Amino acid sequence: MAAYEYETHDYDVVVVGAGGAGLRATLGMAEQGLRTACVTKVFPTRSHTVAAQGGIAASLSNMGPDHWQWHMYDTVKGSDWLGDTDAMEYLAREAPKAVYELEHYGVPFSRTEEGKIYQRPFGGHTTEFGEGPPVQRTCAAADRTGHAILHTLYGQSLKNNAEFYIEYFAIDLIMSEDGACQGVVCWKLDDGTMHVFNAKMVVLATGGYGRAYFSATSAHTCTGDGGGMVARAGLPLQDMEFVQFHPTGIYGAGCLITEGARGEGGYLTNAEGERFMERYAPNYKDLAPRDYVSRCMTMEIREGRGVGDEGDHIHLNLSHLPKEALQLRLPGISESARIFAGVDVTKEPIPVLPTVHYNMGGIPTNYWGEVVNPTKGDPHAIVPGLMAVGEAGCASVHGANRLGSNSLIDLVVFGRAAAIRAGKVVDADAPNPVLNQASVDKAFDHFDNVRHADGAAPTAELRLEMQKTMQRDAAVFRASDTLSQGLTEMTEIAGKLGDLKVTDRSLVWNSDLMESLELGNLMPNALATIAGAEARKESRGAHAHEDFGTRDDDNWRVHTIARIEGAKIDLSYRPIIEDPLTTEAEGGIALKKIAPKERTF
Ligand code: FUM
Repeated sequence: MAAYEYETHDYDVVVVGAGGAGLRATLGMAEQGLRTACVTKVFPTRSHTVAAQGGIAASLSNMGPDHWQWHMYDTVKGSDWLGDTDAMEYLAREAPKAVYELEHYGVPFSRTEEGKIYQRPFGGHTTEFGEGPPVQRTCAAADRTGHAILHTLYGQSLKNNAEFYIEYFAIDLIMSEDGACQGVVCWKLDDGTMHVFNAKMVVLATGGYGRAYFSATSAHTCTGDGGGMVARAGLPLQDMEFVQFHPTGIYGAGCLITEGARGEGGYLTNAEGERFMERYAPNYKDLAPRDYVSRCMTMEIREGRGVGDEGDHIHLNLSHLPKEALQLRLPGISESARIFAGVDVTKEPIPVLPTVHYNMGGIPTNYWGEVVNPTKGDPHAIVPGLMAVGEAGCASVHGANRLGSNSLIDLVVFGRAAAIRAGKVVDADAPNPVLNQASVDKAFDHFDNVRHADGAAPTAELRLEMQKTMQRDAAVFRASDTLSQGLTEMTEIAGKLGDLKVTDRSLVWNSDLMESLELGNLMPNALATIAGAEARKESRGAHAHEDFGTRDDDNWRVHTIARIEGAKIDLSYRPIIEDPLTTEAEGGIALKKIAPKERTF
């Protein structure tokens, strides 16, 4: 057993991660007087939410008629009927409240002439239950909305006495003998000390795992740390096969060019200069949902109509837009295009390519953020003491495909929901749990094993193997033979974690060790993704299967539950939640409105 000295910290709530969801949860907990700590491996305002550009969806009706039920309908359709209906209703109903709260906390939203929050169109957001024209539902702070939200929430959290443990890396969850979460073990990166956080509630807000792929809009910190910890605790991941490719990552660099660019009037063209989306999506054109646009772009390239010397990308045109509009609404991406593509957007198109952007799957939760561990008898069984929110969690509101700007609203609605729930279930007067020492020791053993790993597979090489395999075999289009080959390869690659080579054994600012721990977290996420994709014999949302080209609701309208132990994968399925929270008689949505049908645009 590894012997490390550590300091113990007692809190009511410990939030792991300080992106939009983590900070909204932290703030909500602290506002209620719960003793709240937020531990984060990066400085809060450097969390990946800072990179969110285009905006946050809510039916405020500032730019024209809108309704939460239309937002809910679009989310259901966007999810390709795989989301949980109660959670999707909760998201759409609570969204306006959550955005007005942000406004009152001080988020500097862009404004209309009348001083209302400015809203722009985004893909898949429509009116009249998909029958009407696109709606301007996405509330924006220029094209730096995530940045604005993150800074505001951090300031408000400090004001409410939340305590921050910055540059602390979460190693593993502390679980009781009977399966409740009791806290988390952390390594402080700048001085090498070890810390045990004892908590009545742990909230995982650790973000996505985009870095399991070779090219992603995600920051290098997006390494699925929550999913890794959950897998090592014997808990499942859900719907991991659904990985979103954003249509407009900068070709080569992978940086995001917001969908807001198309919302403001930008459009895609192929090598013939054709606005090809008009052919595929006559109604919504460039503002069809992301899964669809990414597939259309890929088809154009495959059919020989890609742009560039190698015909391997697409053009995004903005030069027809007024310069003032570009300066006012899209200053950030104008700069990104200049720096990362060498393009002046007022004169030239931006070279773009569908790029890994978001994980619809994650740690299964209910709409309060409580982690669910389905059993045979109870598909909704809750793990006491554990919540997951934001991209780390899977509530599931995005199902098989997320609509643009539904991510930021997911962060704040469910971060807030977790706080509301914790206010009810966490007893601030009760003593903290007596920690299961065996679980604490296991976390230190895990850390120590990685620290002293002396095999033949250097972290960077193994990570590259994983990223290339995922990029090749779990891409926009998938096929039976490549998925099965990819699964075999990923299983072998995951097996090599046992043969890892770490060269630096120090404890202070050891980036070799941190990246190795991160690789250990990425691996179960990647395995669950490719195994879930290999098993799912249909096409739905972001899972476009060449050998099973249509959606199969009779057999596959189910959530994939993946349990990963080392390189071993166990898949099972659980039903989606079809019932909304409120009936039509109670003011809710009519079930016939959201019944599955073909997705056309
Ligand atoms: O395109 C974007 O601005 C990204 C937004 C999102 O992923 O929701």
